[in-house]
Amino acid sequence: MARILSAVAWPYANGPRHIGHVAGFGVPSDVFSRYMRMAGHDVLMVSGTDEHGTPILVQAEQEGLTPQALADRYNRVIAEDLTQLGLTYDLFTRTTTRNHYAVVQEMFRTVHANGYMVERTTMGAISPSTGRTLPDRYIEGTCPICGYDGARGDQCDNCGNQLDAIDLKNPRSRINGETPRFVESQHFFLDLPAFASALEAWLRTRQDWRPNVLNFSLNLVDDLRPRAMTRDIDWGIPVPLAGWEENPAKRLYVWFDAVIGYLSASVEWARRSGDDDAWRAWWNDPEALSYYFMGKDNITFHSQIWPAELMGYDGRGTKGGSPGVYGELQLPTEVVSSEFLTMEGRKFASSRGIVIYVRDMLARYQPDALRYFIATAGPENQDADFTWADFLRRTNDELVAGWGNLVNRTASMVAKNFGEIPAAAQRLPVDEALLAQTGAAFDRVGELVRTHRHRAAIAEAMRVVGEANRYVSETEPWKLTGDRERLGTVLNTAAQAVSDANTLLAPFLPHSAQRVHETLGGTGTFSPMPRLEEVTDLDDPSRAYPVITGDYRLGETVAPWRSAPVVPGTPVAKPTPVFTKLDDGIVDEELARYRDR
Ligand code: MF3
Ligand code: ZN
Repeated sequence: MARILSAVAWPYANGPRHIGHVAGFGVPSDVFSRYMRMAGHDVLMVSGTDEHGTPILVQAEQEGLTPQALADRYNRVIAEDLTQLGLTYDLFTRTTTRNHYAVVQEMFRTVHANGYMVERTTMGAISPSTGRTLPDRYIEGTCPICGYDGARGDQCDNCGNQLDAIDLKNPRSRINGETPRFVESQHFFLDLPAFASALEAWLRTRQDWRPNVLNFSLNLVDDLRPRAMTRDIDWGIPVPLAGWEENPAKRLYVWFDAVIGYLSASVEWARRSGDDDAWRAWWNDPEALSYYFMGKDNITFHSQIWPAELMGYDGRGTKGGSPGVYGELQLPTEVVSSEFLTMEGRKFASSRGIVIYVRDMLARYQPDALRYFIATAGPENQDADFTWADFLRRTNDELVAGWGNLVNRTASMVAKNFGEIPAAAQRLPVDEALLAQTGAAFDRVGELVRTHRHRAAIAEAMRVVGEANRYVSETEPWKLTGDRERLGTVLNTAAQAVSDANTLLAPFLPHSAQRVHETLGGTGTFSPMPRLEEVTDLDDPSRAYPVITGDYRLGETVAPWRSAPVVPGTPVAKPTPVFTKLDDGIVDEELARYRDR
């Protein structure tokens, strides 16, 4: 049994999330966490909405809301969507809780006390026409590293490098096109060079990461420069130092605070569970494992900035130092990054209507149909494309005609002929062969999920489904009505295969797993679902917000990862189909929603 932290990237609360987002961080982290719980591990899965920084400010301005009101609005939308998708967070919270502020400030103070926050005078951009500071993200220009012309002041989306706005060539304001003026401004910089050798040594031990993630991360170490962790902005967490804290125009950089969310959410989860120190088992113990799930545009922050913040807190850079009240915090075991999902061959662009929101998808289709698409065809190791035609085909040909049909015909025959799971008499080699297949799949699928190869894992589970369908076709139970003993044996064997396949598919298809469990006469929770709960801020009784949480205890709500023998005599009623077959017309209907926009 291991302790496993599933650290899931925090979506910005600046709008509803689309299916590309949940393909990157959501479904992969949930499949992994569900499997790990089934395999007996002690999982803590945390995340929340990312509510500071320019992305929130920009949208708040557009919607005519305060940043907090905007964050409140989309925090709720996102939390509802992720709940409906069945993502089993132990805690999904937000970055505007008092708890998060306190944890972030403790981190900053200790990293600063250890000498890794260096104060520097920089040149900050202001808008010549308004005199107001112009955040880095509002500035556009040519990347000094790769020459890409659409680089932003904080980051180049073409080469992925972090930038300083002043280094952009030909800088211009994205608001009105004017050339920004640069004026002096004081900021704190995280001393990344002080962690260069520690970061590299750590990365060199990370042999089992996806090669592109590891190589990208190693490349970053070659060119480490101090990086600003404060901003000239009025929305964010105050810098907890005398002379700074009171200054309304200086705040911590959104990425400094967001990654700390993994820790603060763990602390909040512990405080809500009634044992304030319960989070330590996942953070202080070097034996505990931690997996961070995200899209590839987040890699830098998880394989460089976050480890550097942790090392700074622990005092593990060249300047030494010692940990604060949280003790020595462990570095990530693995940064699990997905590539990008496109839609009908194009990049998602909410502003141009090229987008499929999770909410719209779930209003029209089963959550497991989306989860199935993402697991089988998602951007696991390379960019992947979502098309409605492919979605239709996978849903109808694989989910409905493959898995759904197996469940349906098996349960129908059991119900019609016996009304309960029949006992098996003497199994023949053909029966034994099928059960050997389903039995052997547990180790194989498990190992693939453990190593984040979900496409191969679900393909293996679906191969078992194919074998079981072939078994039913070959043994032709509908012709065995004259031989009840053989009929019972065949249907018992088929029911066992359905039950096994259902366990294998449960991490991927948790909603239908529960229904299949019940179809075979099972009772109780087989595959748990998260719930949305209204809570009060632990440190400010006047604030309330929704969180995602749930009970995911092995043996109580979570089925163990192994074959569970079906029990003869269990009543089985005539089934209703678990999956909905889609009409061919949905492809044109859906395409028409955003065509010509
Ligand atoms: N909000 C960021 C994004 O959507 C992700 C933040 S991940 C965390 O790209 F590190 F901050 F948690
Ligand atoms: Zn670039």
